[in-house]
Amino acid sequence: MLKVENVVKRYPTGDLALNGVWLEVEQGQVVALIGPSGAGKSTLIRCINRLVEPTRGRVLLGGEDVTALHGAGLRRARRRMGMIFQEFALVERLTVMENVLSGQLGYVSFWRSALRRFPARVVAQAFALLERVGLAGFEDKRADALSGGQRQRVGIARALLQDPRILLVDEPTASLDPKTSRQIMRLMTELCAERRLAAIINMHDVPLALMFVPRIIGLRAGVVVYDGSADDLTPERLTEIYGEEDWTVTTRAKARRAAAADDGEGAEDEGEADGAVRSSVAQDEARMGGT
Ligand SMILES: Nc1ncnc2c1ncn2[C@@H]1O[C@H](COP(=O)(O)OP(=O)(O)O)[C@@H](O)[C@H]1O
Ligand SMILES: [Mg+2]
Repeated sequence: MLKVENVVKRYPTGDLALNGVWLEVEQGQVVALIGPSGAGKSTLIRCINRLVEPTRGRVLLGGEDVTALHGAGLRRARRRMGMIFQEFALVERLTVMENVLSGQLGYVSFWRSALRRFPARVVAQAFALLERVGLAGFEDKRADALSGGQRQRVGIARALLQDPRILLVDEPTASLDPKTSRQIMRLMTELCAERRLAAIINMHDVPLALMFVPRIIGLRAGVVVYDGSADDLTPERLTEIYGEEDWTVTTRAKARRAAAADDGEGAEDEGEADGAVRSSVAQDEARMGGT
């Protein structure tokens, strides 16, 4: 479905961010891209949708060479790649609904001219998506009144409104507390399963990746140094990706046990505190808390 072939990126500053990356992602497959800061994770997902122009190599989406597209063709290809950012990239003064609808246009600069001129069908889809991500009733709230987890839910709904084939996600939980991070990861992986949607999720939090994502790609200095299952990611392999550190506490089995124990604590949670989160995520959390 997605193929990255020998992608190289050298920034004008001379930094070689990617040094020949090869990878393939099937329809419906979720991949966690891990690696130390500066490994090239953000550059790679930006090269895939060409927010960053690769220096060399090809990106194929559904057989189409994205690296050869321009203008309308490139915009169409980008709409098939939903982007979710770490900093949530919402327009603060706009409402939740307006932010979600702006995703229909692909990129934020469009909303100015086109806002409030969306077909009823699109608006209905946006309502349904907001309900699915646990934000029913939040449509008219301003983005700047939301918590971090709620903002990320808006980002997810916005990305999904364009009905992408793949999600490109850059550090989705970097600014969230641990429990909210798990809820967001669970929501994203559930949505991918429901929609047979592929995803590449950049993350620096290895235990969180191991909890939710069965396939891990490790990037180091712009090269893929691991591509395999979370179960096979041994401390030795983590050392290859990150360098020396004690990884013996970071295995998939341990991560899962920690998640189960943690989620059972019924810890304070920003979304549920006001009874607002009604998605399956919240139900899931509640169920886990009750058993
Ligand atoms: N806009 C840029 N201009 C020049 N160098 C950059 C730019 N963005 C990233 N780099 C460099 O490319 C390398 C990879 O960065 P990045 O893709 O942000 O890694 P990661 O997301 O894994 O932390 C780093 O050496 C970084 O300094
Ligand atoms: Mg990054």
